[in-house]
Amino acid sequence: MASAEWLRRNRSGANRSEPDGIKKSGDECRDCGGRGDALCLARQHILENPETPTPPASWLIRIPEVFADWESEIFDGLGAVSLRKLGKDYHLIRLENPDLPIRQSEAAKFVSWNLPVHHSWPCDPSKNPGFIEKAAQALLRKFGANPPQTLIAGALDPGATNRYYRTLASNLRGRALQLFPPAVSAIRDAEAQDSRTPTLFCLVGQEGLFCGEQSPQASNGFHPGGTKFIRQNTPGTISRAGAKIAEALHYLQLHRPPPTAGCHWLELGASPGGMTAELLTRGYQVTAVDRAPLDPRLQKSPGLKTVLSDAADFQPAPNARYGALLSDMNGDALDSIRHVARLAKHLMPGSLVMFTMKLPGVATYSAVNELQTRVTAAAEEARLRLFSLTHLTYNRQEFTLFFEREP
Ligand SMILES: C[S@@+](CC[C@H](N)C(=O)[O-])C[C@H]1O[C@@H](n2cnc3c(N)ncnc32)[C@H](O)[C@@H]1O
Repeated sequence: MASAEWLRRNRSGANRSEPDGIKKSGDECRDCGGRGDALCLARQHILENPETPTPPASWLIRIPEVFADWESEIFDGLGAVSLRKLGKDYHLIRLENPDLPIRQSEAAKFVSWNLPVHHSWPCDPSKNPGFIEKAAQALLRKFGANPPQTLIAGALDPGATNRYYRTLASNLRGRALQLFPPAVSAIRDAEAQDSRTPTLFCLVGQEGLFCGEQSPQASNGFHPGGTKFIRQNTPGTISRAGAKIAEALHYLQLHRPPPTAGCHWLELGASPGGMTAELLTRGYQVTAVDRAPLDPRLQKSPGLKTVLSDAADFQPAPNARYGALLSDMNGDALDSIRHVARLAKHLMPGSLVMFTMKLPGVATYSAVNELQTRVTAAAEEARLRLFSLTHLTYNRQEFTLFFEREP
């Protein structure tokens, strides 16, 4: 049953006319089948007495550790005041202009994930008996009357060796989903979310519980705190970069579908071939260009053409057309984008370009911003429109930029 319908029925005049809102009839509720048990009554009471939604007083942002030295510049760039550090790399901030979306700020690229905090409970959950029940009831009271597409919970420090908060997050989600209308639990995989529809994200750690409603796209990830965990060192891995492109293709779904199988990718800076191998596994064709050879394990891979050459000397056939371009060349990012721009005329309209913007010798916050402005401008001249850029888990001193070739 759709959530709006669930609410309409469970808040219907028939039910409300009963003393204390007790349901007497039929098939309205999947939990009690009309018997009016304790859970059902508590949920009904809460939904009939929702709290007034409040604008967020604070935001939760995640700054990857590699940018920790630039935290104060990042706060300035966002127009933010830091209230408190949470977990390993989260910060609670207050925005000077809350109407300006975080992702539109120049500093947004240094923020891998963000969330408006509509509800928080600063406490040590491990010392709070009944934490899960109280937290779940509070979520229902606050968000149940206008339910999100789904509710996802995670730990503020997901890498912690102690699993306590990961388990707590999972149990909180389970309990809250029992209380919310059935449609909220219909989404089983985070990737099945509509990237533009609000989700209730909850993060929990020893500092307490922090929750907010925002779309995965505005938060910059389908999962609380970021992207999906993708293992780097699976047997037979050619390079760690395979996990990086897998993560990038996952992230891409926040904005558009990935290229369809069979699409022909032009790959610049392919050696030793971790990304090439990942693209081939997904059923893509690849023309892989590098001045260094690919790993011999890739020899004779179906769908692969290798070109041992500097990108500057690579000249596709005049009528060659690719459906996507990937550049992971190291060295000066401006040189790299110029190679991409020169080859952009061989891309079909709407083609995806994924570009790793490396930062060798780029030592300051403002130099990174300047470089990104120049890279974006060089791409635009070749009708490559930037539609997203981010710092992925597997990016170190670099960003991944996503462009689309305009007709
Ligand atoms: C970080 S590695 C790429 C790793 C690769 N994407 C993988 O998945 O294993 C950078 C590569 O870019 C190549 N490269 C840098 N500048 C180049 C250029 N101008 N032409 C061709 N290859 C270049 C280097 O030879 C190097 O192999």
